[in-house]
Amino acid sequence: MSQHLDSRLLLGVSGGISAYKSVDLVRRLKERGFEVRVVMTQAATALITPLTFQAVSGHPVRTRLFDPVAEAGMDHIELARWAEWLLIAPATADLMARMAAGIADDLLTTLVLATDAQVCLAPAMNQHMWRHPATQENLETLRARGARILGPIDGDQACGDVGPGRMLEPIEIAESIRPRAEPPLAGVRVLLTAGPTREPLDPVRYLGNRSSGRMGYALANVLCDLGAQVILVSGPTELPAPPVVELVSVETAAEMHAAVMGRTTACDLFVATAAVADYRPASPAAHKIKKDAAELSLRLIRNPDILAQVAALPNPPFTVGFAAETREVERAARDKLTSKGLDMIAANQVGEPLGGFESEDNALTVLWDGGRRDLPMMTKTRLARELALLIVERYRERHAAST
Ligand code: CTP
Repeated sequence: MSQHLDSRLLLGVSGGISAYKSVDLVRRLKERGFEVRVVMTQAATALITPLTFQAVSGHPVRTRLFDPVAEAGMDHIELARWAEWLLIAPATADLMARMAAGIADDLLTTLVLATDAQVCLAPAMNQHMWRHPATQENLETLRARGARILGPIDGDQACGDVGPGRMLEPIEIAESIRPRAEPPLAGVRVLLTAGPTREPLDPVRYLGNRSSGRMGYALANVLCDLGAQVILVSGPTELPAPPVVELVSVETAAEMHAAVMGRTTACDLFVATAAVADYRPASPAAHKIKKDAAELSLRLIRNPDILAQVAALPNPPFTVGFAAETREVERAARDKLTSKGLDMIAANQVGEPLGGFESEDNALTVLWDGGRRDLPMMTKTRLARELALLIVERYRERHAAST
């Protein structure tokens, strides 16, 4: 099910004394760009607490198959599908035996059967257990089924023996799965707009919109994680600043336009998530408008379309737009893709009791010339990650085609 950059790794920790080393292993894997989630066997929890792994992985740790709370979030089948790698470290003799026999009597062994991820094992056990014909036969069975076996090595053992059965060091396990590589967007300069704009009517009032900025900020965070140098041009939001190289705070569409157009030369990728007001009051009042008249008409004039102008530059960056549509989402978005000359557009249906501006969740249909992908309803944080990975894919493809 490897969709993108094969970075989703499920670490299974079984009950070997070297389980404590797997805490460092999580850190090493994260340094190499993996998103790590941890599953522990009951025996492992006797040696080290799930909370320790939660702290280093940044995600709750699963220990039981029938845990109603955890199953209500990402259930075990979803977790099995999510994983692109299943690394078991340490893998005890018992766990290898259960795997070889196809037993699924706890969460980890169930995941082994339910996933089509690449399985890797870092065995760790006493040297006699390692040499035992039963273990060696199980090892061959697992290898024949496609599991990659990492180690063990010879050395001093926790039990006082010296011999084979010592788990590889975390850095060696991490290196053999993936050497430390540059993040996929290292050196890529991204300009991103987010949030709403406010168009003043007078010194105290404005025309605004419901955009929270959440989708744009989540995307900025993911793009930073992927190594991009991000400049964020943002309308007013309550959100904490992502780790961008520059955050330019603006209020009006005209300010956003000026901030963007002044920064396009140093930009490889332009992502327009902002909900920019299409119109602004023609002449905002210098003083607070009084309610003297029975009626009040506002004359509005068009704001520049920032996205369309960036896409029309002589040497445009890779441009990604958003489209919020109330009906015929795909047709309207495809029209916008063509009329604005974009490389990609992410469209969502608004005006429904689903997703959209103020919601925590959203779904998107992403379109490009000759292709599409549906990203189903999920949290904006997860959606941002899926979308960012899709942007990386398309950006690299275009880059490869033009070099
Ligand atoms: N956008 C922009 N500058 C504007 C208006 C919109 O950069 N003045 C960008 C938005 O950030 C979004 C995309 O254009 O990425 C689509 O905006 P949307 O309002 O959905 O479409 P419009 O082109 O304004 O068309 P319409 O409102 O007629 O549907």
